[in-house]
Amino acid sequence: MSEQWTAEDYSRIRRDAETIRARYPDHPRSALGPMLHLVQSEDGFVSPRGIALCAEVLDLSRAEVSAVATFYSQYRRHPNGVYNVGVCTNPLCGVMGGEMIWDAVSEHLGVGHDETTADGLITLERLECNAACDYAPVVMVNWEFFDHQTPSSTIALVEDIRAGADIHPTRGADRVYTFKEVSRVLAGFEDGHANEGPSAGDPSLLGQRIADERGWEAPHEEAPAPSGDTTAAGAPEVGGVHSSAERPVTTPADAKPETVEKPETDAPDADDQTKEARK
Ligand code: FES
Repeated sequence: MSEQWTAEDYSRIRRDAETIRARYPDHPRSALGPMLHLVQSEDGFVSPRGIALCAEVLDLSRAEVSAVATFYSQYRRHPNGVYNVGVCTNPLCGVMGGEMIWDAVSEHLGVGHDETTADGLITLERLECNAACDYAPVVMVNWEFFDHQTPSSTIALVEDIRAGADIHPTRGADRVYTFKEVSRVLAGFEDGHANEGPSAGDPSLLGQRIADERGWEAPHEEAPAPSGDTTAAGAPEVGGVHSSAERPVTTPADAKPETVEKPETDAPDADDQTKEARK
């Protein structure tokens, strides 16, 4: 990759960057997040020339831009594969088979976390929770969901990618687009696929359906009227009206904590252990 874009590319990308900045008239530096995605949509990662562009457009130092780019894991520090395959190994997906999926697909592709296959096609990543635990274990390709995966279904998925086949997520867009194409959407330039496919499915809506059938509603309490017992933000003051101090007494410990006896146990008292450790 050359150090500079061509003059033509630079003016096109700069124009897009200015469009993003114009969306934040009062706080231009808030444009940095989507602008870094714009850089990724061009270079496949946050390149040095992309950092320079963001710094110029937002009147920041390159160090300030780099500080943001290196903090968030969605910004890549080296060229990403055309497809980012993320296996959720957070606790719920992990115990539901995510760890087995990870082991199988990592061995199959011969790469580990944040590594890319030699052909530049697939980057493999351990993902944190994607708020899709009701479909565990979940795999994401370029941030599109593949629900209820298994080791064999995920290996079939990466083989489809290798074969150049269109791949179709369980929810969301009809097919998965490339890392660069998706990065442009994250930069705020719509691709027209936002309303394709289902978003929330049955497992996510089950609780709401049961509540609807039974006529359940969330408890509704009037917000406390502003008074001397509330803070400027409207929250109750400690010990004031509507604070936890008003919670009804429900246990002996609530009424008189010092009268509650400690349970008999053979384990050493935590206070004694602390004293011992300090000696
Ligand atoms: S733990 Fe995997 S989506 Fe929540």
